[in-house]
Amino acid sequence: MPLDRLERQSLGVCYYPEHWPQERWPIDAQMMAEVGIRYVRIGEFAWSRLEPEPGKLEFDWLDRAFEVLSAQGLNIVLGTPTATPPKWLVDRMPDMLPVGPDGRARGFGSRRHYCFSHPGYRREAARITELLARRYGTHPGLAAWQTDNEYGCHRTTVSYSKAALTGFRDWLAQQYQSIDALNRAWGNVFWSMDYRSFDEIELPVAAVTQVNPSHMLDLRRYASDQVVAFNRNQTRIIRQHSPGRPISHNFMGKFFEFDHYAVSADLEIAAWDAYPLGFLDREIGEPDLMERYMGVGHPDFDAFHHDLYRTCGQIRQGATNGRWWVMEQQPPGPLNWGAFNPEPKPGAGRLWVWEAFAAGAEVVSFFRWRQPSFGQEQMHEGLLLPTGEPNYGFQLCREISEELERLSPAPDSGRSDVALVFDYASQWMSEIQPVAADASHFDSVLRTYGALRRAGLSVDIVPPTADAIKDRKLIIAPMLIHLSEAFVTGLEQSDAVILAGPWTGSKTGNLCIPDGMPPGPLRQLIDIAVRRVETRRPFAPFPLTEDGAFAGWREDVRNGQDVEVLETLENGSAAVLQQGRTIYVAGRGDDAVQDRQVRRALDLARIPWVDLPPDIRIRDNGALRFVFNYGSETRDIAGLCDGWELAMGSLVLEPCGVTCLRSKLGDSPISSD
Ligand code: GAL
Repeated sequence: MPLDRLERQSLGVCYYPEHWPQERWPIDAQMMAEVGIRYVRIGEFAWSRLEPEPGKLEFDWLDRAFEVLSAQGLNIVLGTPTATPPKWLVDRMPDMLPVGPDGRARGFGSRRHYCFSHPGYRREAARITELLARRYGTHPGLAAWQTDNEYGCHRTTVSYSKAALTGFRDWLAQQYQSIDALNRAWGNVFWSMDYRSFDEIELPVAAVTQVNPSHMLDLRRYASDQVVAFNRNQTRIIRQHSPGRPISHNFMGKFFEFDHYAVSADLEIAAWDAYPLGFLDREIGEPDLMERYMGVGHPDFDAFHHDLYRTCGQIRQGATNGRWWVMEQQPPGPLNWGAFNPEPKPGAGRLWVWEAFAAGAEVVSFFRWRQPSFGQEQMHEGLLLPTGEPNYGFQLCREISEELERLSPAPDSGRSDVALVFDYASQWMSEIQPVAADASHFDSVLRTYGALRRAGLSVDIVPPTADAIKDRKLIIAPMLIHLSEAFVTGLEQSDAVILAGPWTGSKTGNLCIPDGMPPGPLRQLIDIAVRRVETRRPFAPFPLTEDGAFAGWREDVRNGQDVEVLETLENGSAAVLQQGRTIYVAGRGDDAVQDRQVRRALDLARIPWVDLPPDIRIRDNGALRFVFNYGSETRDIAGLCDGWELAMGSLVLEPCGVTCLRSKLGDSPISSD
C-alpha cells in the first residue's frame, strides 16, 4: 500500500475479536461490510492473549482474525499492544511501573501501567512490536499500524521513577553541558537552589511548596521527549518489517502532556479519539455551555482538534499529502467515563462524522463495534448491543456510507490563509506558573478559534515555526508565551497581519521574564512593554469602552509613539494596540471582544468572513461547503448559500442538521482573492 493519502473518505470501527467466540467473527465481518465499514482497528490491548506466558506466543487467533476480516475486504489497522503490559511482565520488572508525584508507584489493574523512561520496558515494547511486525507486516489485509494507545492517558507521561530520575539527569547534562550553566538558566540563586553537579538534581517529589518553574519546565520537556523516543522505538521497527504501511497513533482531546508535533514527525497518519459528549462533560466545565450543548457537544472543541491533528498529519507527510483520521469516534450513544453520560440528540452522531469528514479526515472510525457485557467499559455503547444485535450506530453507518457515495468528498489537507498558533511549551508554561487559576494556553487558543468559527472561517492550527506561518495572510498567536528567534524572524519576513494576545512573548525559553520586558522579541514588531499583569476572579471583569470586557486578565501596557491605541478599558488604559500590521490585545477578551478583534484582523488582511447565526458553523472543503447546526433551534441558512447549490440536506437547518452545498464556480467563494 502506498503511503499516499486515500482517494476516498471511509468509515471504520474498533473491534476486539479476542472478546468474542471465533464462530462469531465471520458474522461481524460480514455485518461491517454490509453497512459500508472499510477499516477495522484491532489488537491494541491484546498482549496477554498474544503472549500468555513469557515467550509463549499464541498468534493463531490473530492469524484467523486477519483471514476473516480480509475475506470481507476489510482493511486492518493493527495496534501494538504496549499500553497494556501483561501481569507476568510487571511481576518480572516491577520498577517499570510509573511513579506518581507523591513518589508512589502506580499499580497494575487497569492500563498504561508503564514508565516511558524504563529501558527494560522499552526493550519489551520493541520485542513485541518486532514479533507483530515480522508476522503481519506484509499481510495483504494490513492497511496501517497504530502505535500503542493514547500515549499519556490517565496522567502517565510524567513519571517520578528511578529510571526517570537517571534519564532526566542525563538529559539535563546534555542540554546544559555544565552545572553552572544550568544554575544560571534556572535562576538557582533563588531560595538557595544551587547544585554542584547534575547528580544532585532530584525529581520534585512531594516538594513543600512551588518548585522552581524552570526545573518543572525542563521535566515536562524531558518527559515529552521520552514519549517521542518510545514511539520512535516502535516506528523504526515497523518501518523495517512493514515497508509501505503507514503508521498512526491515536492522540486525545485536550491533552498536552507531550509535544504532539514532535511525535507526529514519526507518523504518516495523525489520528485522534473524538468523544464530543465526554469532552463537554469533563473538559468544558462551564455550566451554561454544558446545558446549551447537551446531547450535541461543544461546537468548536472537536473541530479544533480536527484542525490541530490535520496539521500533525502534515508534519512528516508534507502539506499536500497530510493524512489524519478520527481513530475512535463516539457512537451515537452514551459513554461510560463522563461524570454524567447523556445520550446524544437525534442527528448528533451524524453531525460529528460529517464535521470530521468536512475537515478532511480520511477515515472516521467508531469506538466500538460491540458493547461488551464485562470489564471496565461495559456501560460504553457500541454499534451493536452486548447481544450482538444492531444498536442505533449500526444503522447510522449505513446512512453515512450512502451519503459518502453520493457526495464523494475527498480527504483534504488544504491550507488556510489563517494560521492560529498552538504551542505545547506555552501550555506547560501556563500550567506551571499560571498567575490566574483559570489560565490556560489551550483555553485562550480555543476561544480565539471560536471567534474565527463564528465568522465562518476554516483555519489551520499550527506550531510556532517559521515554516508553518509562511505564505499566510493572517497569523494569530493568542497566548504564545515563549517566542523563539526563528519564529520571530518568520513573523518579520512575512507580510501577514499579526494578531497577538496577552502574555505573548512574556517568557524566555526557560520560563523567565525576558530582558526589556514582555512581549519580548515581539517588540521588534510593535513598540510596547507590559509593566504589570493583573488577574481577577470571574465576578470582576474589566469593561472596555466599546462592547464587552476582558474576562479576568489584563495587562498594563506602555506604548511608543508609533503605536496607535485602538481600544481602551473604561479606566482609560490601553486595551488594543496596533503598529503597522501587528495588533496586540492586552487582556483576555470575552466573546464580544474576541469577535471584534478577529474581524478587525480579517478585514485588515482582506479575508472575507460571514456573521453566522448562533450555533451555526460552516466548513469549506474544496468545492463543498458544509453547514452544521449545533443549537436547539431550526435556522434558515439561505443567506449562506449565494454562489452555492444544494448537494445534501435543506436550507432550513434543524437542530443537529447537516447541509452540504456545492460551489457553482467549482471553488469555495469564501476563500479569499
Ligand atoms: C479512549 C480509549 C479507548 C476506550 C475509549 C472509551 O480514550 O482509547 O480504549 O477506553 O476511550 O471511550
